[in-house]
Amino acid sequence: MTPDQIVHTFVEHFQRRGHRSAPESSLIPPPDDPVLFTTSGMHPLTPYLAGRPHPSGRCLVNVQRCLRTTDLDEVGDRTHLTVFDMLGTWSLGDYGIERSIRWGHELLTDGFGVDPGRLHATVFGGDDQVGPDQTALATWTDLGVPVELNREENWWSNGPTGPCGPDSEIFVWTGDGPPTGTPGGDDRWTEVWNHVRMCYHRHDDGRLEPLPQPNIDTGMGVERLEMVLRGGRSVFEGDGLTPWVDAVRDRWRLDETSYRIVCDHLRSAVVVLGDGVRPSNTGQGYVLRRLVRRALTTLWRDDPSRTLADLPVEPYAATVRRFRQRGDVGPLRQVLADEERRFLGLLRRGRPVVDRRRSRGPLTDADYAWLHDTHGLPRDLVDGPLGEAG
Ligand code: SER
Repeated sequence: MTPDQIVHTFVEHFQRRGHRSAPESSLIPPPDDPVLFTTSGMHPLTPYLAGRPHPSGRCLVNVQRCLRTTDLDEVGDRTHLTVFDMLGTWSLGDYGIERSIRWGHELLTDGFGVDPGRLHATVFGGDDQVGPDQTALATWTDLGVPVELNREENWWSNGPTGPCGPDSEIFVWTGDGPPTGTPGGDDRWTEVWNHVRMCYHRHDDGRLEPLPQPNIDTGMGVERLEMVLRGGRSVFEGDGLTPWVDAVRDRWRLDETSYRIVCDHLRSAVVVLGDGVRPSNTGQGYVLRRLVRRALTTLWRDDPSRTLADLPVEPYAATVRRFRQRGDVGPLRQVLADEERRFLGLLRRGRPVVDRRRSRGPLTDADYAWLHDTHGLPRDLVDGPLGEAG
């Protein structure tokens, strides 16, 4: 199935079961939001999870572009992406976890054709504040799906405070041969879908308070599901990433992890740019800057003559289309070209300065502060690309 077919099948499954479409938000949350980017489909729905009536009703479905900086270090493996599309469903105080799991199981097996014998679930096993999720456990057991019980791994929150709750994750076996082991012990179990009982609010002091209504919030990454349905080895083989992988592979020889980092970061940068962010030294603009710089650093590691100007327009255009953004890609490419030039200039100016300081011994906090304040060289650059100058 293509990503478009996946989205269509998902949305239709839930529309037939009384869900209405919730509008998709930008990657950029409103200014008073403590989180820099929209990290999941539930994020823009936070007020409604807390009890405000949603104009589309109590059962919602949508697809939402998301960005997770928490996963940045994992990008390069088979399944993690910085920006991805998340399919979501919500029960705002309507149905409970049993129905959510049963509808989810039905969609995965009947709708998407996943062999039920390749499924494994994990369920919140309880901690000192909240008991085990017996309903989720009983539902999976009744469906014949094996269950692993966890604590921290099965508690979902969008930050230290705010709505949160116990979750149940669904894994699909992506190894060769018959399934073995459990998701906790064998990473050939690939997580595809999370069903959260979003029914608590965590306060600053760590206290949990029940929300005015018990909600269900589920999220499933499109790229990952596409990989599982294709029997692919990584998300980088899917429709959303291949325009980048093809363009990069045609031009440059890199190891597999580097391909993945470059493709993920450039694609993510394009989506962030498409939502109006521009490179800067703070906030969202700094995340964008770091994505572009990390892609460039990876490209330049063994060939400093590589330049983004060599990439064709297709992957940019495909990405803007795939993430339902509008506008011409010309200006986005221009911003990246300007950023590349700026970064190159910074490295050229900074390298001799850092080398001179280093020749006097290991850098102290005062050195880092001086490099930052006087020369505009942030610590991650000094320890990263400038550190490699030797
Ligand atoms: N909020 C949960 C997640 O992002 C389910 O949507 O995994």
